[in-house]
Amino acid sequence: MDNIVFTPEAHIAPVWTRYTPIVAERAEGAYVYDRDGTRYLDFTSGIGVTNTGHCHPKVVQAIQEQAARLIHGQANIVFHPPLLELVEELQAITPAGLDCFFFSNSGAEAVEGAVKLARQATGRPNVIVFQGSFHGRTGLTMALTTSKTIYRAGYQPLPAGIFVAPYPYAYRYGWSAEETEAFCLREVEFLLKTQTAPWETAAILVEPVLGEGGYVVPPPGFLAGLRRICDEHAILLVADEVQSGFGRTGKWFAIEHFGVVPDIMVMAKGLASGLPLSGIAARRELMERWTPGSHGGTYGGNAVACAAAVATIRVIGEEGLLENAQRQGARLRQRLRALQARFPVIGDVRGLGLMVATEFTAADGTPATHLAKAVVKGCLQRRLLLLTCGPWDNTVRWVPPLPVNAEQIEEAVAAFEDALGQALASGEGGA
Ligand SMILES: Cc1ncc(COP(=O)(O)O)c(C=O)c1O
Repeated sequence: MDNIVFTPEAHIAPVWTRYTPIVAERAEGAYVYDRDGTRYLDFTSGIGVTNTGHCHPKVVQAIQEQAARLIHGQANIVFHPPLLELVEELQAITPAGLDCFFFSNSGAEAVEGAVKLARQATGRPNVIVFQGSFHGRTGLTMALTTSKTIYRAGYQPLPAGIFVAPYPYAYRYGWSAEETEAFCLREVEFLLKTQTAPWETAAILVEPVLGEGGYVVPPPGFLAGLRRICDEHAILLVADEVQSGFGRTGKWFAIEHFGVVPDIMVMAKGLASGLPLSGIAARRELMERWTPGSHGGTYGGNAVACAAAVATIRVIGEEGLLENAQRQGARLRQRLRALQARFPVIGDVRGLGLMVATEFTAADGTPATHLAKAVVKGCLQRRLLLLTCGPWDNTVRWVPPLPVNAEQIEEAVAAFEDALGQALASGEGGA
């Protein structure tokens, strides 16, 4: 009995794939500390969650104060001040007219809720999504997700009524932005002619910047084109801002870059700086068509999470984090483009604000997955945390916290350059 060692890691389900062996004991700003004190520069932000930086003092204070006052005030039984304050804060930053809110816990839960809302509000069953989309891993959101087969293989058959159109990923097609935009809009119209009748189509669900699918920024007129198609057929435009929201792209929400107002917007991740909270915003007249009691949840709108969200929104506004995201994002892309000129294997550098990607492509045009993974591993050895994304995982995504400074950007790019140089020298350049 004495010599049996209990290893807790062995008791955690392996379905949770791991990028690092780190056991994070604490974190502050852009840094995460392992149990042995090793410091890592975190350019993942926990997959776009800690936009205000880890443990921002004002967010921590709000959480501590609220936890001492009221932790759980179940929304069907009572409302609480942080919930009321949050809707006031959100109303001021969400696109015009989206003045009514519902809250849940995860991104997937909110996307699923948004589809339920769209179905009841329109009385129509079908939803159009885009190739490369990631909307979650629950039953319905798996069916909405097309970024990788891993998210659906072994779980088929998935819910029906979902139709997939191409996302304007110009680099993959090898076309100009204009050609790609025109093609993808035509394909949506084609779906409405051939597979899902407009009068049976409740919603077009779109990520204003593709997240897990490869950090792809659509051409400038794409979202406006979707808006036009939706208006023509009384279809609801649903924006999934789970990853792109809360300052990530240098605006509160990525869709603002395109001058488009959706009918429904889904948010999560950056909303509460790490406490589980997600939300759906829509016009009140739309929300009034959602049968009371037909959707809900025990924990949605948790008091501590709402207090964290209120503090998060105030910090982003008061500390000029949108402007910083634009400034530092431009610096990051400029540095990465300079590297691209020296390393042709960096096929594409793209992004908006601090939602930035470097896609690796081998000389024969195939995705250089092996290299991207080797570079991320090399960065980890240099104490920089980065993630990959895209169908082939050959795209490195850069997701630093919004208060990131110029020195941290330079440090990260230097580590990346070093790791890339080493990976290429050791023959990792292929796919
Ligand atoms: C755009 C988008 N939608 C939905 C989700 C699902 O969110 P969650 O993992 O909180 O369920 C994600 C998660 O990465 C996402 O990026």
